[in-house]
Amino acid sequence: APAQVRLQVSAEAAGPVIEPTVYGHFAEHLGTGIYGGLWVGTGSTIPHTRGWRNDVIQALKRIGVPVVRWPGGCFADDYDWRDGIGPRSQRPVRLNKFWGMVPEPNEVGTHEFMDLVEQLGAEAYLAGNMGSMTPRALSQWLEYMTSDSRSSLAEERRRNGRDKPWKVKYLGIGNESWGCGGHMRPEYQADLHRQYVTWLHTPVVRVASGDGEGRDEVIDTLMARAGQDMDAITLHYYTVPGPSWEHKGSALGFTPEYWARALRGAMGIEARIEATRRIMDRHDPAGRVALYVDEWGTWHDPEPGSTPGFLQQQNSLRDALVAALTFNVFHRHTTRVKMANVAQMVNVLQALVLTDGPRMLLTPTYHAFDLYQPFKGATPLKLQLQTPRWGEIGKESGQDLPAVDASVARATDGRVWLALVNLDPQRPARVTANLAGPAEGRLLTAAAMDAHNSFSQPHALEPSRFEAPAASGGMVLELPPKSIVVVRVGEP
Ligand code: AHR
Repeated sequence: APAQVRLQVSAEAAGPVIEPTVYGHFAEHLGTGIYGGLWVGTGSTIPHTRGWRNDVIQALKRIGVPVVRWPGGCFADDYDWRDGIGPRSQRPVRLNKFWGMVPEPNEVGTHEFMDLVEQLGAEAYLAGNMGSMTPRALSQWLEYMTSDSRSSLAEERRRNGRDKPWKVKYLGIGNESWGCGGHMRPEYQADLHRQYVTWLHTPVVRVASGDGEGRDEVIDTLMARAGQDMDAITLHYYTVPGPSWEHKGSALGFTPEYWARALRGAMGIEARIEATRRIMDRHDPAGRVALYVDEWGTWHDPEPGSTPGFLQQQNSLRDALVAALTFNVFHRHTTRVKMANVAQMVNVLQALVLTDGPRMLLTPTYHAFDLYQPFKGATPLKLQLQTPRWGEIGKESGQDLPAVDASVARATDGRVWLALVNLDPQRPARVTANLAGPAEGRLLTAAAMDAHNSFSQPHALEPSRFEAPAASGGMVLELPPKSIVVVRVGEP
């Protein structure tokens, strides 16, 4: 029998709008995330526009990319922006120290990245190097990119082919400073942060590197000592289904227990956001500083046979549910969460697109982003959800989870959108809602928990049409097991 779920939606806003930038992306110089996956070079036979592959760019444009964070990650704190300007043939080759010690040709640098975001219609979010370069180098990068003056740096940019200054909206001051960004104590990082922002004489959103290890004291110390000198602070949150980083679990062929562990892990982001928000509220009661979850996603064992350090993994229906549950959490925390960036855009971790030479496919996570598009800029509405905890597998594995999770919002055109996730892989759910039907939209589900798209079957898992008729005693939505439904509905 289906799980009986009741949903009570009110017309009252639950918080400020869902910033479109919570549907943001992260693209690092890591494995084939940039080279091969997005950039094929100007001499490639793969159709491209100035080196950026057309198939991938077109697919990404269809879901609307609001912002791209680049060039790392850990890579960012080892990156010298000067390596990536000037004639491509003369750029130095470095070693990518964090990601396999492979040669980094610097073919993609500042000009190429800014071309990418212009092609996508996205904002640029540069991750600045605080770990291994000087404050002067950081301020000079910004001047090189944004100055309209006759300074030597602005002239150098013009000589390199870009006359008009670029707009750089967001600047990260280091990345994971507690780890690969320099193994700093938060006290030391707070001082460095203040030092590095001193010479940024260009209006830019100053993003401090925050926590990624569940350590409240990192956020507390940074907010106390440098809160005045930042506009946002970050949280990194990865869903690792297995018991440890050594045993993360495989992306496909997992057990029901690992299904449950992944979803439980994904929902755990809410507790981290809440804890972080409480600390921020104490230091910044006016809510000036935003919280950016600028790395999130699943992290599985690498794809068998793939290069270690390239973080390549397949992507299944389970990853799509992780994404949908994560979006619902972001919708519940719009007072602080103003940006989030999935790790990562192409070929790395919870990718939206996978490529293999000239071939590419869209992952279930891509489809989750697609389904949730109407929520960009929408106003979340208050709701009450009465749902049973889910079935036997949940109990047996000790993973206490709701059967269904929901989010409702009024879109910019005034229409109400409802997102429902049925977490239970075995049991359907019947959701009765105080909404006037009919409802129509799309459904993502499959027979197998690890259903996915492969290069031999690139369209195996795609959304299908979903409808719920108008009914007098409340609208009834029948959710298949392990599914995501996003529908437009009548007024509450
Ligand atoms: O996304 C992969 C890596 O995860 C990033 O480079 C780093 O910031 C995080 O540890």
